[in-house]
Amino acid sequence: MTEIVLNEPLDMHLHLRDGKMLQSVAPLSAYSFSGGLIMPNLIPPITDIDMLHSYRDRIKQAIGDEKFLPYMTLFFKSNYDRDFLASVSDEITAIKLYPAGITTNSEGGVQGFDIDELSPTLGAMSDLGIPLCIHGESSGFVMDREKEFIPIYESLARAFPNLKIVMEHITTANSVEALDRYENLYATITLHHLLITLDDVAGGMLQPHLFCKPIAKRPEDREALRRVAFEAHPKVMFGSDSAPHPQNAKEAPGCAAGVFTAPIALPALVTLFEEYGALDNLQRFVSDNAKAIYGINPPTKAVTLTKELMKVPQKYGEVVPMYAGEELSWSISSINY
Ligand code: DOR
Ligand code: ZN
Repeated sequence: MTEIVLNEPLDMHLHLRDGKMLQSVAPLSAYSFSGGLIMPNLIPPITDIDMLHSYRDRIKQAIGDEKFLPYMTLFFKSNYDRDFLASVSDEITAIKLYPAGITTNSEGGVQGFDIDELSPTLGAMSDLGIPLCIHGESSGFVMDREKEFIPIYESLARAFPNLKIVMEHITTANSVEALDRYENLYATITLHHLLITLDDVAGGMLQPHLFCKPIAKRPEDREALRRVAFEAHPKVMFGSDSAPHPQNAKEAPGCAAGVFTAPIALPALVTLFEEYGALDNLQRFVSDNAKAIYGINPPTKAVTLTKELMKVPQKYGEVVPMYAGEELSWSISSINY
């Protein structure tokens, strides 16, 4: 095959930031995707409707004429008022929960995990049909954080059987196994976690542009992620977790966590899925599953990729992308609306 068309590709976990960074990265996602789930971890995080509206307006302004729907999220707080949530439920696609301090701009997240304390918000979300997205990591040893969080996912899934819970950016075989144990558990998988293991980050010279949270894991974990992505398991969907930081924040002591993949995501996914004979399932992984899970209907956009080299730029503005300066076997050749 030398050409593939992806209809309404969706990026269900996306950091667009704000200000100058937003202006520089939003058009890149808007070019190749039909929509994206926009993370709320700004400073300060998005916690009320005025902030959400004005952030959505800034995103739309940054995107210009491009056809791209920003699916907005609120930053989880345990004491959201039920009436407030009812009033915003049509304007948000999900609420994102971060454990306090676990990653970039998550200081205002949840401390401890007392389900009773979280119940007012979770109960209302469940009743109103608002999905819950979670950055599922404990504060334990870095390689074990995701595994240690699984019992929390399970307690939440049991306590709120009608609440859709999305395990964000899963990185381990344990998380893949948990998916099938509870009807209401779903997951996003990033491009970089399908491609790399910890060896690529720290096995040779340290690669700051591959450093992210959760950290990439073992080959057998990557294998488990690949298996469900390549078969487009109906409970998994693509979410890039594309997380731009300026070059000087990455190439520094105290390197910021995040891999910037938005502009290379579709060419790299096609390259990978082709290599493993899974191209027939990419449409479901990158769009259909998310549409079904979230019940969304994104704007029509057909992205054609051709088997022609994409030379990845060294930088997009201030940000170094994954595979900077390297070549991918596929590139975007046209977009039709
Ligand atoms: O590597 C990451 N970067 N992981 C996250 O969860 C957050 C993200 C960011 O916002 O930079
Ligand atoms: Zn993220």
